[in-house]
Amino acid sequence: MRLAAAELVESREILPGQWLQAYHAPDIATRSRAGQFVHVRPGDYSGMVLRRPFSLNTADPATGIVTIHFRVIGRGTAWFTHLRPGDEIDLLGPLGRPFEVDPRSRHLLLIGGGLGIAGVRMLADEAIRAGRRVTLLFGAAGSREVYPSSLLPDELEYVVATDDGSLGHHGYVTDLVPEYEAWADQAFACGPQAMLAALARQAEGRRQRLGVAKLGRKRGGGKADPFGSPAARRKSFLQVSMEQNMGCAVGACLGCVVMGSNGVPQRVCREGPVFAVEELAWDGAWR
Ligand code: FES
Repeated sequence: MRLAAAELVESREILPGQWLQAYHAPDIATRSRAGQFVHVRPGDYSGMVLRRPFSLNTADPATGIVTIHFRVIGRGTAWFTHLRPGDEIDLLGPLGRPFEVDPRSRHLLLIGGGLGIAGVRMLADEAIRAGRRVTLLFGAAGSREVYPSSLLPDELEYVVATDDGSLGHHGYVTDLVPEYEAWADQAFACGPQAMLAALARQAEGRRQRLGVAKLGRKRGGGKADPFGSPAARRKSFLQVSMEQNMGCAVGACLGCVVMGSNGVPQRVCREGPVFAVEELAWDGAWR
């Protein structure tokens, strides 16, 4: 984790109230992995002291450009939309634990709900660079909120679901998952908690439905991987990136906890934001 000055290169509203901004931040672009995030401080002249967490939407080590995708939800996020190319902010990051892809996985299924696409977008670039095939399932309330396909890699299969049926599948994005669960070696999701809880339930029964082998079952003599370890995430069919309100983003304030399946609260900013789906307790409040 480092503090880096970042210069705004491009800023545009890509959907109503949703912005995509590109910053020149070579150090962060080089060290970031898909699933991680940055904590961003508005400028001194903003009058605001709290940092805001943003998923790293993309990071290109070759150009040193990182992008963030956010919705304007208050004074803080609105402030960022007034920045102009050449303006500087400071970024703390990369923060959090990244997605882990098993080296044997050839087919990756990404699932994004609304703004949650920002949490999985970078993984598409990493996977395609590594020669993997990627399908992105995206869900939104209606066509006005569908992420533009022009902002996605050409190699990616992009499938859309809308709640009102105005574009693509009429229904929830989770309806689309069964069609891909035999094809996918691993799945990665980010979005509303109700969507993630539904995916967790689907993943629970997948192995029995398909009769598939579990990745890595022969390694380590059947020993379980340590809770929260990269190996535990790598062997899980489904990894989820949790979106929680954050205060400090460094593990001190406990403002971002979710309950672990081991009964221990998990800080999304430190133990997450990416978890193997089996590591979280999905019953109770989230159902
Ligand atoms: S935001 Fe403070 S502990 Fe996570």
